[in-house]
Amino acid sequence: MSQDEAVPQEHPKEHHDHAILKFPEGFLWGTATSAHQVEGNNIHSDWWEWEQTHQPPHLRSGKSCDQYHLYEQDFELAKELNHNAHRLSIEWSRIEPIEGQFDTAEIEHYKKVLKALKDRKLTVMLTLWHWTLPKWVADKGGWENGATVKYFERFVRRIVPEISEFVDLWVTLNEPGVYIYETYIERIWPHSKKSWVGQVKAYLNLVSAHKRVYKYLHSSFPAGKPVGVANNILSFEVYHKHSIVEQMAVALNDLFVNHLFYFLTRGSHDFLGINYYFNIRLKGNNLISQNVGLTQQTHEVSDLGWEIHPEGIFEVLTDLSDDLPIYITECGIASTNDDRRNRFLISYLQEVARAIKAGVNVRGFFYWSLLDNFEWHLGFEPRFGLVEIDYTNLERHIRPSALVYTDIIQHNGIPHSLLRFIGHTVQAEEVLEKRQKEIEKEIEKKNK
Ligand code: FCB
Repeated sequence: MSQDEAVPQEHPKEHHDHAILKFPEGFLWGTATSAHQVEGNNIHSDWWEWEQTHQPPHLRSGKSCDQYHLYEQDFELAKELNHNAHRLSIEWSRIEPIEGQFDTAEIEHYKKVLKALKDRKLTVMLTLWHWTLPKWVADKGGWENGATVKYFERFVRRIVPEISEFVDLWVTLNEPGVYIYETYIERIWPHSKKSWVGQVKAYLNLVSAHKRVYKYLHSSFPAGKPVGVANNILSFEVYHKHSIVEQMAVALNDLFVNHLFYFLTRGSHDFLGINYYFNIRLKGNNLISQNVGLTQQTHEVSDLGWEIHPEGIFEVLTDLSDDLPIYITECGIASTNDDRRNRFLISYLQEVARAIKAGVNVRGFFYWSLLDNFEWHLGFEPRFGLVEIDYTNLERHIRPSALVYTDIIQHNGIPHSLLRFIGHTVQAEEVLEKRQKEIEKEIEKKNK
């Protein structure tokens, strides 16, 4: 064929693949909290007791955000911000402050709390245990004691029939692995101790607590609601690309942190709950490689030194993806710099959208957290909230990032204008300024 006869090549059309930024229909958009961190005056819990004896006054939970009384106001905010779901926990130590004695007034209180969410048409994901124990359970050995599995199941059997009409998804346990890590390895939490035997016992008791409660929730409520755990999942990388020891350390850490609990409880999940925050780079010449001090790195980090690594959420989602739906039960950033929170939200959600496009069945995202709150042994300094708390008067102030999140929710996807926040085009600054002004106006309106 001569050159003249050659079929003219069409110019490839510029292809804007907007679809990658869309989320599936019915996607759950919300935030997560836990009782001890937001309610205040959680006086029958082991954490409360430990704070009084081991923590200086400024690191005690005290009144916290007083959500115990202000829940209506907080849920109203969630609704105004267009959330369609909310994850929260109930406090075992309030409901059963003394062994075998259930406080009906507290049960009524939680019914009201959950109903307040339903009245606002929010899908409710309820955590049954988020790290705190009634003092009496802790005094008997906490999770090391096999009987705690029975106590927990008894509590669950008492409370669930009362509240199940208000709950859409159950989370049995929050991050059992982190609980074990902070108590037995870092040893900076209540009842910390060095005990390999205790550590293994506590871990296995948490495994059986999950399995038993899963079974109960299904056998008693056959048409039941989905049940899962919220597991802390990390992405790991080697520090030196060619270090075989570091690569083995990555494999081991991945196995213990990300897979072991799911493996030991396989068959007892209707969904995978993933709490993803950050990436860890392992450096060292033995298998228990050290996590590199993140602040020594050149990567962007949160106020807690947690490495911001959006690709990490894509990696863990694709890695854990199987037949089960996945909910991102927590994901967030501690920062007093709200621009950083905007970038965090947009860039992490962009990776979630990419994972969905790659076939991962992600059904919801719960930003940690709706409000600034009590961050365990670190007190109130880390600021995770979409809504800022002024702890002098407990006033709530909506942050601009809350409205960026709302924008995403309203589009059920990430509008291109927002991508510019993360440097998508050269006009980013212009857009940002415009958006900032819009947001400030909206905030003024909302805070009036
Ligand atoms: C998670 C916890 C949650 C909160 C966030 C920052 O590991 O589940 O309670 O402390 O970290």
